[in-house]
Amino acid sequence: MRPLQSRSSAPPPVSRANIQHGRAKPAALPVVAPVVAIVGATGAVGVELLRCLEKRRFPLAGLRLLASARSAGKTMKFGGDELVVEELNEQSFEGVGIALFSAGGAIARQYAPIAVRAGAVVVDNSSAYRMDADVPLVIPEINPETIARHHGIIANPNCCAIVAIVPLWPIHRKNRIARLIVATYQAASGAGAAAMEELSESTRAYLAGRNYAQRVLPHPYAFNLFSHNTRIDPRTGYNDEETKVVNETRKIFGDPDIRVSATCIRVPVLRAHSIAVNFECERPISPDEVRAILAGAPGVRVVDDIEKNYFPMPRDATGEDDILVGRIRRDLSDPSGKSIALFAVGDQLLKGAALNAVQIAERVLEGQASTESIPQM
Ligand code: A2P
Repeated sequence: MRPLQSRSSAPPPVSRANIQHGRAKPAALPVVAPVVAIVGATGAVGVELLRCLEKRRFPLAGLRLLASARSAGKTMKFGGDELVVEELNEQSFEGVGIALFSAGGAIARQYAPIAVRAGAVVVDNSSAYRMDADVPLVIPEINPETIARHHGIIANPNCCAIVAIVPLWPIHRKNRIARLIVATYQAASGAGAAAMEELSESTRAYLAGRNYAQRVLPHPYAFNLFSHNTRIDPRTGYNDEETKVVNETRKIFGDPDIRVSATCIRVPVLRAHSIAVNFECERPISPDEVRAILAGAPGVRVVDDIEKNYFPMPRDATGEDDILVGRIRRDLSDPSGKSIALFAVGDQLLKGAALNAVQIAERVLEGQASTESIPQM
């Protein structure tokens, strides 16, 4: 592992290295290793961003870990190095080539433009910019071509949208999905490290017969589930999470007419989201066709053992890059044969957040390498 700078005063050295892609496919072109900043490095997603960069051997000229004043001075391990966390400030992005933001919408709104002005490409995990017309909203398995249209900021989609639609895209391309209905079973990790802690603590308290006053989520979490804790739009009756799934699916598929409905529920699971999906295609489609399409789909693993009654579970998806898909069957409520029901589970912190962001960053580097390889006139 190359030595890394953790101090913002360090000049950003430039080195050349090859980047590793999802399925160990080497990049065709040499890329310039950037200095990368992680905003929110100490958070649930931030920690996974660090792991993904390391695991995927992302080419780095330096790595800068940024968080609030509460974390300044803490150290985090990266490869063989101990990197010091710095407090985020307006000078944090000097020399930074790629900034991975996962510190919420308010921090993204305040600091992403500063990072862009300093010359960084921002990949933001919050919802702050997702629906802006000039901000690409990217899942690399679906719409990587939109990355090239960025003006400094690229948005990482909502975690449920990612888990639900990565497996649907190859189906949609063959036989357009006209209507999609999802019901989510969302893990604690989507609300951050403190919510994961609250799930563990409140479960221990419940089992010990102690009272637990929840601090992060609005309802008791142990042995309970509740409607997603975002604001409800009085006009539609949909909460913000559900609205994100509807709007982001349309934007990522580039299909504003797809009809989508969602019910988003928080369940007492630590870090993988599960989603029941029903979809209606324009033409008839069979479960076997869906299985055949998904067998070769990037980022997807079919887990559909009817004999053993073994299907995707959050325990199996945790720590995995792929979205697990099973329970593939006809939707019996539609006699036309155009509708399918399935169940998808994906690690919210990986493909639902950190992994997708790092895959976007890899594509950014690849794009920069190919631009640089074009002879200048
Ligand atoms: P910190 O750990 O110092 O509070 P999560 O999504 O798991 O709750 O994590 C949120 C991340 O955003 C953490 O790394 C957190 O840092 C960071 N963060 C929160 N508020 C700020 C802030 N005002 N400035 C910089 N980083 C922040």
